[in-house]
Amino acid sequence: MPEKFYITTPIYYPSAKLHIGHAYCTVATDTIARYKRLQGYDVMFLTGTDEHGQKIEDKAKEAGVTPQQYVDNIVEGEKGVLDLWKLMNISYDRFIRTTDDYHVASIQKIFKAMYDKGDIYKGKYVGKYCKPCESFWTESQLVDGKCPDCGGEVQDAEEEAYFFRLSKYASRVQDLLENTDFLEPRSRVNEMVNNFIKPGLEDLCVSRTSFTWGVPVDFDPGHVVYVWIDALFNYMTALGYQNDKYNDLDTFWPANVHIIGKEIVRFHTIIWPAMLMSLDLPLPKKVFGHGWLLLDGGKMSKSKGNVVDPYLLSEKFGVDALRFFLMRTFPFGSDGNFSNELLIQTINIDLANDLGNLVSRTVSMVEKYFEAGTLPTRQTGDPEKDGELEALGAALREKYREAMDHYAPHRALEEVFKLIQRANKYIDENAPWALAKDMDQNGPRLARVMYDLLEAIRLSAILLTPFMPETCGKIFDQIGAQEPCRTWESAGKWGLLPAGACVKRGENLFPRIDAEKELAELEALSAAAKKAALPDLEIEPLAQEQVDFDTFCKSDFRAVKVKACENVKKSDKLLKFTLDDGTGTDRQILSGIAKWYKPEELVGKTLVAIVNLPPRKMMGQESQGMLISAVHTEKGEEKLNLLMVDDAIPAGAKLC
Ligand code: MSP
Repeated sequence: MPEKFYITTPIYYPSAKLHIGHAYCTVATDTIARYKRLQGYDVMFLTGTDEHGQKIEDKAKEAGVTPQQYVDNIVEGEKGVLDLWKLMNISYDRFIRTTDDYHVASIQKIFKAMYDKGDIYKGKYVGKYCKPCESFWTESQLVDGKCPDCGGEVQDAEEEAYFFRLSKYASRVQDLLENTDFLEPRSRVNEMVNNFIKPGLEDLCVSRTSFTWGVPVDFDPGHVVYVWIDALFNYMTALGYQNDKYNDLDTFWPANVHIIGKEIVRFHTIIWPAMLMSLDLPLPKKVFGHGWLLLDGGKMSKSKGNVVDPYLLSEKFGVDALRFFLMRTFPFGSDGNFSNELLIQTINIDLANDLGNLVSRTVSMVEKYFEAGTLPTRQTGDPEKDGELEALGAALREKYREAMDHYAPHRALEEVFKLIQRANKYIDENAPWALAKDMDQNGPRLARVMYDLLEAIRLSAILLTPFMPETCGKIFDQIGAQEPCRTWESAGKWGLLPAGACVKRGENLFPRIDAEKELAELEALSAAAKKAALPDLEIEPLAQEQVDFDTFCKSDFRAVKVKACENVKKSDKLLKFTLDDGTGTDRQILSGIAKWYKPEELVGKTLVAIVNLPPRKMMGQESQGMLISAVHTEKGEEKLNLLMVDDAIPAGAKLC
């Protein structure tokens, strides 16, 4: 019976479209799940969506739809969560939505069970609430009066509520964190213990009455279950805990690992184990808190307009290239700064130059030098010349395993690329094209060189399969490696590719990217996205300083009719107006509005001008007053509208 492995991602808030940061977490989990399957484990990979809470309720209201319609659209709609995971080739086995009936019913039973045990009790909540994080805080937990998680504003909150006796489990949770490998990387343990447990774990408010979009507490109408209880138990309800929908609890619980981002480590390593302890349930074996993918040094967020769209990048560069980049570039436990430059550079260096080149050079040489692209039986090697490559290949799988088992996919890839780079060097050292000049003399040697190259490619492709499943399938086809030579077992041994393997040249796996052109395109798209995220409309705040009535009355505003209007020579800003101000003498005013109006549009219009400003010279011409206009900002762009009044108002009429 294959060993079981249960791995989860966080369930995502469908409060906005997902971005590359979300994809990072899921691609990593998918890679590990695929790695385990490759090793022969019976894997259960769970993901899903966390659909309740005030944030969703508010967003739905804003959009004028029901909360259910709102989440349905983000989960199932075009380019929604399900579409994204399909695109990114995420091989999840089960998808849970916290609005699924079976989950809702299970959460009600779970809440009641903790209540019956005395671990949930009714009290009064007085404190602070952070809406975006859906988290309650005590005054002492705030950082500079702001939410310690997101740094945002918090609101006063007071209401009757249920509490979970988190304090009761403080010492057991501390022991779990400090004396086991429950939480990794270990560097996150101190933060949990020092910031949350040592200052004193307070009981946790676990119900709300101020909104309704949640799991109702069935024995106390008006209360809904705190979204994090609802969310965390997904890991078990999706296996059948407290429901008949599934029956996998005995097989897969406790989870082998929850993969999560660093900002939700507190929920997963303090609150989650405490609730499981309350219900006498086995604890997950590990929680791995990965770092964030940053943009310009900060967190990605829609409101900053700096989110990166995985659809766009996959379309441009390919899904496998994107998956590879995410895992290759950033050490999994730490934060990493995303940039388009880095993405293109990684694809060009690792994939186009190193891997792509190795495959295409090797396959085309075998095709060219051996009839029907088929190697003769494996020839004896030359330890001096072949030993290093072979030794590297033979030792690779164990190094890779060690890194993957420690949740360090970036290190595993580093090892694979040592072999790929060594193989490219091996081509240069052995110069197959020179050997091919005299096949009678060098045929066997050339066959050995090409065989070793194919073998290096085969081992690399097996170990790269969890990262780039589609591409590796194509590589196997190109080098003629059939099923038994694609397995984890066969990756542990050099020399398993059968003699007589027949290669078949295929498409160029990773065409080189024109960095300059692509960067310019991406830059333009990101500028457009930033602009779209700007507030639609901005108006200047009202002046605080008061003006006394007499001073105001000194300003002489008049209706003026435009007799003529033209652009001022050598200025792209100024228009020159000849105006009838009712005095019988023309008045000339210059105004910097050429960006918004063409002169001919304005002739005949009745405008408003202040006429008792001291005359001023502009571009050598006198301006006798100023035209009044309304200004505001739209999507970051300044807009201006001249004040125009009814043409029935005679020139010279005073405005007061
Ligand atoms: N709904 C909760 C999880 C409940 S699990 C019981 C949640 N959802 S989330 O959609 O906000 O985030 C899901 C995951 O995406 C988290 O692990 C989070 O860390 C990760 N990421 C979101 N933005 C990220 C980056 N920019 N970089 C890396 N991961 C990020 O939290």
